[in-house]
Amino acid sequence: MNILGIETSCDDTAIAIIDEHANVKSNVLSSQTQFYKDYGGIVPEIASRKHAELIGYVLEEALKLANVALEDIDLISVTYGPGLVGSLLVGVETAKSLSFAKKIPVIGVNHLEGHIYSLFVNNKPLSVENPPFPMLFLIVSGGHTELVLIKKHLQYEVLGETRDDAAGEALDKFARALGYGYPGGPVIQKLGENGDPNFYKFPRLSLKSPFEFSFSGLKTAGVYYLQSHPDEAKNRLNDICASFEEALTDILINRTLNAARKFDVKAIGVVGGVSANKRLREKFRKKSYVPVYFPEKGFSTDNAAMIAVAGYLHYKNGKRSDLLLDAVSTLPLGV
Ligand code: KG4
Ligand code: ZN
Repeated sequence: MNILGIETSCDDTAIAIIDEHANVKSNVLSSQTQFYKDYGGIVPEIASRKHAELIGYVLEEALKLANVALEDIDLISVTYGPGLVGSLLVGVETAKSLSFAKKIPVIGVNHLEGHIYSLFVNNKPLSVENPPFPMLFLIVSGGHTELVLIKKHLQYEVLGETRDDAAGEALDKFARALGYGYPGGPVIQKLGENGDPNFYKFPRLSLKSPFEFSFSGLKTAGVYYLQSHPDEAKNRLNDICASFEEALTDILINRTLNAARKFDVKAIGVVGGVSANKRLREKFRKKSYVPVYFPEKGFSTDNAAMIAVAGYLHYKNGKRSDLLLDAVSTLPLGV
């Protein structure tokens, strides 16, 4: 079986083709980051226009690399939310047009469940046929930070999410305050690699509710530090970046491990763009008492293979979308 995944929720135009065992036949992604260098962040109007410009080429390349024709596609799985509506619409309308023209079933997928299923792409590190449920997932990206308990495929219990900024957003804004462009996470990782994580003590979270997050305090403390200590920030840049990353990863790890203990899970999955972070991975592996899994390299950040895996599971469950499928900016898990 050939499953075509389409992902256009933010600034990446992505199309992948997988088989029914989640093996990737092709995975094509056209990133728009170069267009936003002078803007300090994604510009929604530019993003949707670029998706419309690029999606035909990305589709052509994905088919070519997988060595299949459109006639060989058995299922189309597309992100329909949450995200930038103008961007999502390009993917959704492409999916529906292909579905109508070629009589292929189409399924709308939540971007966040796509991130969850990124852990099963290529059946690595986990097998989609035999997952170690109950599992706790930490979804940590530029737009989201939440803890989700999963006892059965496609059934999500959201334990808590961020009250304000996502963890990736705090990294992006801190990098921006340092004069770097989007995305900031990889820049902070690189600068902080050989720094002293205990050089400066940024605030840790003191929220009472145990499974919620908040990163606006840390972000503000970071930006305020840079403004109030300009010389030290310049001379000790590596130490400052390491210290900021240390605080952010402490918050994520402590809350996740508390939830894992409370719900007695067999394993933890950490997914979303920030799950690519080296310090986060090392610290999680060192501190956790249950196995912690991360997506294969290249599948932490947005991609279409993860959307195809989630869509195929819905298909097996009997779900079908139709030509009324619409793009939505907010979409809680499980809807
Ligand atoms: O999942 P994603 O590609 O898009 C969203 O759905 O938001 O995540 C993008 C986020 C950005 O905030 C980016 O700075 C962060 O993931 N990110 C990282 C790393 N790579 C990407 N953060 C920390 N370390 C990284 N290596
Ligand atoms: Zn994402």
